[in-house]
Amino acid sequence: MQKLETFKPCDLVIYGALGDLSTRKLISSLYRLERAGLIEDNTRITGVDLHAKTNSEFIDAALKSLQQFLNEAIDEAVWEQFSARLSYLQIDLTQMDQYQKLSTIVDSEKRVLVNYFSVAPFLFKHLCAGLSQSGILTKDSKVVMEKPLGHDLESSQEINDAFAEVFNEDQIFRIDHYLGKETVLNLLALRFANSIFTSNWDHNTIDSIQITVAEEVGIEGRWEYFDNTGQLRDMIQNHLLQILTFIAMEPPANLEAKSIRREKIKVLEALRPITSSNAAEKTVRGQYASGFLEGKSIPGYLEEEGANTESTTESFVALRVDIDNWRWADVPFYLRTGKRMQNKRTEIVINFKQLPHNIFKDSFHDLPANKLIIHLQQQEGVEVHMLNKVPSIDGNIKLQKTKLDLSFSESVKEKPLFGGYERLILEAMRGNPTLFLSREEIEQAWIWVDSIQDAWSQQNESPKFYPAGSWGPVASVALLARDGRAWEE
Ligand code: BG6
Repeated sequence: MQKLETFKPCDLVIYGALGDLSTRKLISSLYRLERAGLIEDNTRITGVDLHAKTNSEFIDAALKSLQQFLNEAIDEAVWEQFSARLSYLQIDLTQMDQYQKLSTIVDSEKRVLVNYFSVAPFLFKHLCAGLSQSGILTKDSKVVMEKPLGHDLESSQEINDAFAEVFNEDQIFRIDHYLGKETVLNLLALRFANSIFTSNWDHNTIDSIQITVAEEVGIEGRWEYFDNTGQLRDMIQNHLLQILTFIAMEPPANLEAKSIRREKIKVLEALRPITSSNAAEKTVRGQYASGFLEGKSIPGYLEEEGANTESTTESFVALRVDIDNWRWADVPFYLRTGKRMQNKRTEIVINFKQLPHNIFKDSFHDLPANKLIIHLQQQEGVEVHMLNKVPSIDGNIKLQKTKLDLSFSESVKEKPLFGGYERLILEAMRGNPTLFLSREEIEQAWIWVDSIQDAWSQQNESPKFYPAGSWGPVASVALLARDGRAWEE
């Protein structure tokens, strides 16, 4: 990793501190960092929100979120230390004069100001303007925010422009929480620290690659947001494309943000456009109908609370993606992601090519090709599917399929895995941009995704239904079957 500014004391200010993200994720992640001794002694955490609250009411609210979302007993001593850092400010972020209140708390001479925007995107512009006027920003101040960073290229550029008026690019930390996941980062180690993979990672040896991000959850009370967004923008534009770039990029010169980002952008630039001329054969849109998950009856997307029963928003997407560069010529990447699928599973399947000649016809008419399966969640690990000889002395060489199985939970027993947010908050406080997205990367991803979205608008077709608890619409099976392939099940 890049040389860090490590452990300077910070003024971490969370805007939207009483909101959903802060309550569910940020407070418990900060507590875990405290417990691990990773927060600098003089760091202070300030919650900002619209509601009138005293410091002690905010501290009570933080304790409640820990009780609800920490999933472990709260350690009294850690809590005492943690809560001593907390304070609260009531600010209406649309009112420029109210930003002055921040100067009563923030001390830019003693601490680095880290502004965490955990608010709806319409407030981003107000926040940038308010902070700029407040006079508390210095060249060391940072801003952290996460998606949705726009709805398409144009709106994303608008947001990025608003940030650029106030902050330099190296002060902006855009989160994709998948880049905080241990297993996603481990892809770098797997690819670039193991020669068996580095030397077998291109069109010469690989037939095709599948990336599946299946979710069991549905819309979880955010129907309106999701309905305006859809699975393509919610998951493919960010998380799946991030995984794809990690799998497809050239070896970076080193682990610095600049090198890694440069390689990721090259992959995004090489994605073959999907347009109205090829969308029909390269894309599948689905929407879940009612069904069963773990024996429970599940309502369909259009039957969810608050649903517009005419909606044609997709909750499932499958794509055939081609990367037009030297390494990946003729190697399709199949991506699929959906809500209300059979189980939560994020995995990458690398299908190697079949051998050119089979001398084991007694065992297999077609020798099965090797496969590398990388499980990112829920059971993190790596499997290699191989063939070996059935042990016997009967004079025959018979083959059987076998699996080399490396579960990460076994190999990292001593060191519990941190969640994505702990890592990302810590890296932002340290000022290390490696795990955050650059403006160019996000805009490049939008260019590609906008073209798919436009093609779908022109097609004007309804998504295909799939029962909740299944693996998506039948059309997604056909997408691979047309190429003589099948999804890994
Ligand atoms: C979020 C999406 O970015 O990622 C959600 O907005 C999705 O719709 C979530 O459920 C999935 O994240 P994870 O970490 O559970 O795979």
